[in-house]
Formats: sequence, C-alpha cells, structure tokens
Amino acid sequence: MELSYGLIGAAYLIAALLFILSLSGLSKQETAQSGNYFGMAGMAIALLATLADPRVDNVLIIIVAMIIGSVIGLKLAKQVEMTQMPELVAILHSFVGLAAVLVGFNSYFAMDHHLLQVLTDTQIISVNIHLTEIFLGVFIGAVTFTGSIVAFGKLRGLINSSALMLPHRHKMNLAAGIICTFLMITFVKQGGGDFTLYVMTAIALLFGWHLVASIGGADMPVVVSMLNSYSGWAAAAAGFMLSNDLLIITGALVGSSGAILSYIMCKAMNRSFISVIAGGFGTEVVVDQDKDYGSYCETEAAEVASLLSDAKTVIITPGYGMAVAQAQYPVYELTRQLQAKGVEVRFAIHPVAGRLPGHMNVLLAEAKVPYDIVLGMDEINQDFQHTDVVLVIGANDTVNPAAAEDPNSPIAGMPVLEVWHAKNVIVFKRSMNTGYAGVQNPLFFKDNTKMLFGDAKESVNNIISAVK
Ligand code: TAP
Repeated sequence: MELSYGLIGAAYLIAALLFILSLSGLSKQETAQSGNYFGMAGMAIALLATLADPRVDNVLIIIVAMIIGSVIGLKLAKQVEMTQMPELVAILHSFVGLAAVLVGFNSYFAMDHHLLQVLTDTQIISVNIHLTEIFLGVFIGAVTFTGSIVAFGKLRGLINSSALMLPHRHKMNLAAGIICTFLMITFVKQGGGDFTLYVMTAIALLFGWHLVASIGGADMPVVVSMLNSYSGWAAAAAGFMLSNDLLIITGALVGSSGAILSYIMCKAMNRSFISVIAGGFGTEVVVDQDKDYGSYCETEAAEVASLLSDAKTVIITPGYGMAVAQAQYPVYELTRQLQAKGVEVRFAIHPVAGRLPGHMNVLLAEAKVPYDIVLGMDEINQDFQHTDVVLVIGANDTVNPAAAEDPNSPIAGMPVLEVWHAKNVIVFKRSMNTGYAGVQNPLFFKDNTKMLFGDAKESVNNIISAVK
C-alpha cells in the first residue's frame, strides 16, 4: 500500500513526537518503561511509513533485510548481559557510522557528474550543498565507525584500556582536521572528486581510531556517550543526503541528547569536555606503580553481620562488581533484614558506577529497591561522616580517595563517594586487583577499612545467614 507524501509527512511528524516523548520518559526511572514504549511505537510508525513511500522500491529486499536484522538483533539482545550493554551499544554505534559512510558514497556515485557542466548558478549552489553534506556525512560516519570499534574493543578487554600516548598525537589530530577541511573545499570547488573522497575517508578512519585509542579507561563513559552523539550526527547527515526529514530530526535528537549526556558526565567526573573529546588533551599523568600503600585487614561474613546488627546507619555503595555477581537481589534482602532490626539503610550511587549511565539504578530497580532510599552522590556524600558502616559492594574507582588526594592519579579531580569518612568500611571484592581505571585504591589500606574477599553474591548471602 502506497501513501501520499502528505500522509507520510504526517506519519513522520507523529513518529518524531513519539521519539521526543520517549527521550523525556527515559530521563526518569519511574517513566523509563513508558519512554521505551513511545520509542518503539515511533520506530514502528517510521518504518511502516518509509515502506509505504512511493519513492521506495525493492520493498521485498528491504523486508527480507529487516527480518534478518531483527532475528540477529533479538538473539544478540537476549544473550547480552547487562554488564556487556555498553559493548553492544558501542558496536551498534559503529553500524550507524558505517551506514552513514555507505549512504554518502552511494549518494555521491548516484549523482550525474556530466550534468554538472551545464548547471545554472542556483543549481550549482544546491549541488555544492549536497557535496558538503556527502563529505561531512562520510567524515562523521568514518570517525564514528572506527572510534566505536576501538571503544567496543576497550570495553570488551580486547584492546588495552589505558590511553595510547603516541608522540605528537595532538599535532596529528590537528593536522588531520586541517587536511580534511582543505580536502572538503577542494571537493566542493571541483564538483566532487573520487580520489579526494577516498583520501578523506582513510584519514577519518584513522582519526576516529586514534581519537578513542588515546582516551584512558576512566574517561570511557564519556567516550561511549560522545560516540552516541556522533552516531546521531552521522544519522542526521544521512538524513540530509537522502532528504529524509525524520532521519534528520531523529539524528539531531540523538546527537544533542548524547552531547548533553557527555557534558553532564564530564561535569560529574570533573573533566573538561573539550579535553576528553579532543582525545585526552592535557591529561598527561604519571602512575607510580611501586608505591607502598601499607597493609590491609581482612574480615569474615560473621564479623560483618555483627557489625551491621549493632549499627544505626548503613550506606551501601554498589559498583560494577555487584553487577558481575548479580548480587542486587541478596543485597536488597539484607537491606530488608537490617531495616526490620531498625537500622537505617540507604544506597549511594556514583554517576559512573558500573559500565553504563544509570547501570546501578537499573539493577536496584530490578531487585525492587524503593527509589527513595537510592541517593545520588551529591545528595549523600556529606552523610558518610555520620554513618556507622559502609558496604562497598564491587565498587573501586568510584570510592578511590586518590581522586581527591593524589594530583598525579589518572582519576585526579574526579568526584568520588567519600566512604572513608564513615566509622567502618567493608569492601566486598575477590582480590586486591585494581578497578576499571587500573589504579590502586588507598581506601583498602585505611585503618577503618576491612576487606571481605569473595564473590559479592556469596558474601552477601553468608552475611544474611549470619544475621538470621
Ligand atoms: P570498578 O572500578 O571497575 O571496580 C569494580 C570492582 O568490582 C573491581 O575492583 C573488582 O575487583 C570487583 N568485582 C568484580 N567482580 C566481582 C564479583 N563477582 N564479586 C565481587 N567483586 C567483584 O567499578 P566502579 O567502582 O563501579 O567504577 C566504574 C568504573 O568503570 C569507573 O572507572 C568508570 O569510569 C568506568 N566506566 C564506567 C562507565 C559508566 S558510563 N558507568 C562506562 C565505562 C567505564 P576484583 O576483581 O578483585 O573482584
């Protein structure tokens, strides 16, 4: 069934509104589910309207491709663990980048280059605009493509997560930017140019790779949301090339929301937005591997259970390890057990705890922890000094005092949960290994800290049995 252009425009408008409602719903835990439904409805309308567009032919091929894509997507999304979500998001961003590159090349080769000789002035202006769209679309797409592949590799542990520090790296980035600008002017002035397009694509691919490779592990959250933003701009550029209004709107929504999120995360981590997106500019640090931190003290589940039973106030700070161990369910059971004994229990959430924005909030919501006892870093940081026991469950970088005390630390300046001000701190982890940023944590060696080694779920279950 083919629809008129007017109806397609109306369907696109409805889809765009649903996407806006979706984004606004996703900004709060309470409305996140309805946000997802709005997004799904918008996407279904957009797909159906596109298939019904009279300018779209080969509908059968598109449907077959969609079925194959949906089957692969469903299978992957079902298999993927929550902790692997950022990897999945990163690789999906790379597809958006690749799609923008392919759309750009297709738009370029579909142009009738012989006609360019006989164009009027007005036509030349619109051709120049189209050539600029193609050039920028391919550039942004190529940077997003390789950047996202490196982000995927780093998150998956296939590529070293520390920053690649090539000599003169900032000069190389600057040179890549200047050369590509020069190539764009040449490309537009000459009415195109296969060679120019190929050279720019190669530079953009290398640029994207280098840009993300030179960002260290601790800044990866910002990189993931920044690539999210790039993928939006790449989609918007593809929308301009295809004259598809909905793609432009959707791309702009993703691009700007990703940029806003990156900015918020940079603020939360006390990082300069420009320095992170420019490939870690100005983040030279010296890590002292041989530093002696002193000795640490071990404890056992029974001892922690009696400490908790005697406490009046407890704060739980979860991190990536809680997600790995899937300990959120017993953690909530322990919470209820302590509440029944009259202990005040609250959760402290660092903005980049885990491996994706809101990771801990999602896990706690899954275990049905009430929202009113789950507090953000700024809401609870000053309360640690009046707290009897803090349980650090699988968190490491987000509770590292080095961020506040050691200016040479790779995470220096990043606000952290100041758990060390509490009377007692219990750290749940399996070994003395470092966290994601690869830096040692002086918290483990403080006098008021005790280490409870083992899988977090098992440890919490042991405490539950001991409290009973
Ligand atoms: P991390 O610093 O990564 O520390 C997690 C800790 O959990 C590790 O020290 C690990 O120690 C422990 N652990 C792992 N599996 C465990 C298990 N089964 N049982 C008990 N403990 C376990 O985590 P964090 O404090 O949540 O900090 C997040 C880090 O990830 C930050 O550096 C952040 O920048 C980065 N990051 C965040 C994001 C977003 S958007 N949130 C995205 C990418 C990267 P053991 O191995 O000794 O057990």
